[in-house]
Amino acid sequence: MSDAPENEITPEAVNAAVDAALEAIAAASDSAALKAARTAHTAEGSPLARLNASLRSVPNERKAEFGQLVGQARGRVTQALAAREEEIVAAETAARLEAERVDITAITSRTRVGARHPLTLLQEQIGDIFVGMGWEIAEGPELEHEWYNFDALNFDVDHPARQMQDTFFVDPVARHLVMRTHTSPVQMRSMLERDLPIYVVCPGRVYRTDEFDATHLPVFSQFEGLVVDKGITMAHLKGTLDHIARMLFGPEAKTRFRANFFPFTEPSAELDLWHPTFKGGARWIEWGGCGMVNPNVLRAAGIDPEEYSGFAFGMGIERTLMFRSDVQDMRDMAEGDVRFSEQFGMVV
Ligand code: DAH
Repeated sequence: MSDAPENEITPEAVNAAVDAALEAIAAASDSAALKAARTAHTAEGSPLARLNASLRSVPNERKAEFGQLVGQARGRVTQALAAREEEIVAAETAARLEAERVDITAITSRTRVGARHPLTLLQEQIGDIFVGMGWEIAEGPELEHEWYNFDALNFDVDHPARQMQDTFFVDPVARHLVMRTHTSPVQMRSMLERDLPIYVVCPGRVYRTDEFDATHLPVFSQFEGLVVDKGITMAHLKGTLDHIARMLFGPEAKTRFRANFFPFTEPSAELDLWHPTFKGGARWIEWGGCGMVNPNVLRAAGIDPEEYSGFAFGMGIERTLMFRSDVQDMRDMAEGDVRFSEQFGMVV
């Protein structure tokens, strides 16, 4: 090693090296910076290390003096490094603990929130479509008087639907109460309760002594529509049903009528729905029943059929959900497994 003048041991050179080291150590704000300061000021090649190395060439009589000078200088720097390291480690540990803090008092919910039932959602959506057209939502009781469920709707006394195999009669039979077999009794209730003209939809639960299988439930839901106004024709009925079909199934949906019989409508039709993406391809499915309100029904409600006419329709909501969301088995809608409902998302 050469005896370059800058390595000559003088108190000034030693102090300058120590000052520079202390300054760098104090300025180091994290472990990485401190490591860099340690290398720059104590490692081989640093001013202090070079001064230390120069001790070799110091004349013997001054070795002790210079040795002490350089030794003390190195000691101060080493101490300063240790002290700063302690501070930095403490600060970094505190920062990490703060960052990783877990609030064990925070309230979390371990209860599954579940999901709204798709039938409820669809029922509300159907209601919204009609409300959007300016119609009103009508309601009626599920435990219904036989008169509303059958007689007022022009059913003969011996109509087969009244037989025990279709209808849940409620004891005592002499009170003539039934679990409503369809939402159509709300037609008569609406006509008796409301002022003309009438534009109502009634979504609700109905009951039949049906088997519990993939396409039948003894408790299911329908939505009933009723319009009574001046000049109402079957064209209004068709236009309304096409609109509902498109709102529920998209713009490609189509409807068609097939002649049929219902005691409370004349003429009556079975309503079919067509869609290109039904399971099994583009096809017609049976969706419900409809027709022009039978004049006898209007008369039973005290409405003059010469002045007013109306249309009515009724569709199954489970059936609608089945075809709309491709549900294979209606029992999934009744069994209450939340995993079924969760597939339809949480629409609020
Ligand atoms: N109530 C009938 C049923 O449950 C469906 C129905 C048919 C409703 C014709 C109507 C209608 O309003 O006009 O099978």
